[in-house]
Amino acid sequence: MHEHPSNRVDLRSDTITQPTSAMRERMATAEVGDDVLGDDPTVIELQNRIAEIFGKEASLFVPSGTMSNAIAIRAHTNPGDEIVTEATSHIYIYEGGGYAALSGCSIALVPGRAGLMEPADVQKAIRKVDGSFGHFPNGSLVCVENSSNRGGGSCYSQEVLDEIAHIAHANDCAAHMDGARIFNAAIATKTDVARMVRDYDSISICLSKGLGAPVGSMLIGDSEFIALAHRWRKMFGGGMRQAGILAAAGLFALDHNVERLEEDHIRAKRLAAAVNEMLGFSVDLDSVQSNMVYISTAEGEAQAVVDRLANHGVDTLTIDESTIRAVIHLHITDQDIERAITAFESTI
Ligand SMILES: Cc1ncc(COP(=O)(O)O)c(C=O)c1O
Repeated sequence: MHEHPSNRVDLRSDTITQPTSAMRERMATAEVGDDVLGDDPTVIELQNRIAEIFGKEASLFVPSGTMSNAIAIRAHTNPGDEIVTEATSHIYIYEGGGYAALSGCSIALVPGRAGLMEPADVQKAIRKVDGSFGHFPNGSLVCVENSSNRGGGSCYSQEVLDEIAHIAHANDCAAHMDGARIFNAAIATKTDVARMVRDYDSISICLSKGLGAPVGSMLIGDSEFIALAHRWRKMFGGGMRQAGILAAAGLFALDHNVERLEEDHIRAKRLAAAVNEMLGFSVDLDSVQSNMVYISTAEGEAQAVVDRLANHGVDTLTIDESTIRAVIHLHITDQDIERAITAFESTI
């Protein structure tokens, strides 16, 4: 649906969505309290609902996905520890080095395929202080990203997710999932989210991406972990007062914007297949499993293509000199996809 004041096709990110009038109505009428004092009923409702959906004891409303991951890392580790994650993960590339600055951790990077790690490579990357004469840092946390942003929206199989969590625990590490787009992954792999995260100690999910809320993420885990996370949220300055106005958008999103993600995936596949046919562009169609399309251009041409697309009213982002990203979300219609395809054709 097009409920925003623009005649452009904005494919830069699924974070650009604007709250629809129905969502705004739910926000405007939300009952609120002071969430730092623990009495905002709408935040409490959202936290309880998310915990139930994910089959965990508790959850915590936080301002952003970056803060949610940062709190999880801080709560699971001690300064001097090492975290293990995929080489193109959001935690490594796009969170300002927060794991080092806020948690004092080093990072062991695991090579991935389309952003996804192999369990054996995770095992190899975990370094433990025990048995190393104190030489190694203590690997204490393994993070997976599902779906993988830089992997082009690729998704883990349940088997691999279970195996990675098993390896983490066998090595006395916690297992954290950056599930910024977990509902996209769940729909793409036809998996129930509670089953997906069964073996994970913490999960971060975003309400402000495909789900269409303006602000907000949730950190999910057992009660003890969430109590600790609550303390770190306070220290990181993430306690919000009448946050029920924002939590109401999350509740609305859970009611209305989860099942429809399937439509975004169908549109992403349509765009990917059409662009892949064009001379000068290629798309790894196997990686187009959810709402993202990563398009390879001729060497060094990405910015020029983005500029030409913009002249046709279609906004995209460069990922590197030869890669463009297009993300499908709830403001993108079938007509928008056809318009984007025509725009790509006219850039050739
Ligand atoms: C995989 C992943 N994790 C975390 C985040 C961080 O979310 P936020 O922008 O709310 O900080 C993003 C944002 O795009 C993301 O793609």
